[in-house]
Amino acid sequence: MKKLWGGRFAESANSFAEAFGASILFDCRLAPFDIQGSIAHAQMLGETGIISPEESLQIQAGLRKVRDRLERGDLEFRLSDEDIHMNIERYLTEEIGSVAGKLHTARSRNDQVATDCHLFVRAEIVSVVGLIADLQAALVRRAKEHRGVILPGYTHLQRAQPILFSHHLLAYAHMLQRDIGRMVDLWKRANILPLGAGALAGTTFPINRVRIAELLRFDGVYENSLDAVSDRDFVLEYLSSCAMCMMHLSRLGEEIVLWTSGEFGFVELSDAMSTGSSIMPQKKNADFAELIRGKTGRVYGSLMGLLTTMKGLPLAYNKDMQEDKEGIFDAVDTITGSLRVATDMVATWKIHPERMRAAAELGFVNATDAADYLAKKGLPFREAHEVVGQMVRGCFTQQRELLSLSLDEFKAFSPLFESDIFEAISLDTVVNRRTSRGGTASVAVDEQLKLVDVELARTEAWLREHSATVAAT
Ligand code: ARG
Repeated sequence: MKKLWGGRFAESANSFAEAFGASILFDCRLAPFDIQGSIAHAQMLGETGIISPEESLQIQAGLRKVRDRLERGDLEFRLSDEDIHMNIERYLTEEIGSVAGKLHTARSRNDQVATDCHLFVRAEIVSVVGLIADLQAALVRRAKEHRGVILPGYTHLQRAQPILFSHHLLAYAHMLQRDIGRMVDLWKRANILPLGAGALAGTTFPINRVRIAELLRFDGVYENSLDAVSDRDFVLEYLSSCAMCMMHLSRLGEEIVLWTSGEFGFVELSDAMSTGSSIMPQKKNADFAELIRGKTGRVYGSLMGLLTTMKGLPLAYNKDMQEDKEGIFDAVDTITGSLRVATDMVATWKIHPERMRAAAELGFVNATDAADYLAKKGLPFREAHEVVGQMVRGCFTQQRELLSLSLDEFKAFSPLFESDIFEAISLDTVVNRRTSRGGTASVAVDEQLKLVDVELARTEAWLREHSATVAAT
């Protein structure tokens, strides 16, 4: 089969090397974006008179036919056509004959593939922001539902101070808000048009790059043609934002694994969101939470892989850059799947408030408050800390909790203790006195809930606007 670039070559390709160099097995995923970019390019070529208006319309109509065939599943891509760009051009030629050859005027595959990648990444930004917001919404719904449920908060995975379960869930909602922030910020750099850079140096044809940007709803054009074809920063930024988000999901996954263990027993996943064992009939495993944790590594790998690919490349395009695709496709699939299962797990889990509370009643999570009590009565905090430390040591050896001490026993440690100590270190008081901004008291958590609701509404508005951008072209 003659290559689209066959003119320069006398010998036909080595078939093993041809397969080694081909990207069609994975970049076929860019097909709709490749067609979208080509339609805009053809329209601009017609409007500027670089090709005739009739030719332009013919090419655009042909591309639409190719798109229809693509949507019907009626295209079979060929390895011998190397990549998606040449496969589409081959089908266009099949549809409209030799005029198809005019589409590539004033264009190179280098600015073409960069354009496809920008269109792909911006669509995936919108998609992932939507999925992150879904998870946030599920967390907020559960936080509202579980208002008032107390569990131990941990540091070093040792019980530290009691907190509201809602407070804990909202911590994830805030992390995810930063993930959304990174994606939203990246949009500015992803939504810039490289097309018109040509192979690297621009073109001798009187093209109108701004017009293509307008047709494809890009916010601007690259100002340097070398930069336009050699930049993959936006892919790296997307990968790094995904990596950060996966790290958050992985931490949530780890908590789900802990919480669903018999030792904790705080949470039970729905049957649909857990799995059994082929040998142990009693098992109900949090496989999906573990898989999120496990798959996080792949996304880090894609980020490190592409950073490494890019670091030694001289300007401008180099074939190494073809290696960006499998990594980003894999990252997109991984984060999409992880966000979906995380959302379903959170939305359908059952919690055991009594187990959480029981865990919070043990382990001296009110010790800080006993020390605060003494400090508020004038004892320097360091001394108060020492006194309560001795109380805890005494209780620990007798397997008792602070609240089981009698007033006389309290007084034996410090005369400052009075009968209001029991109220002061009760679980509900300990939680609800932490009214500082961002703290765990109900009133403070209610404030946070309001803030996250505002952010969710803002994200919804952003999504409406940007989904329209992605869909319109
Ligand atoms: N398949 C190539 C890629 O993904 C397209 C660009 C090829 N350009 C070239 N000059 N060979 O990067």
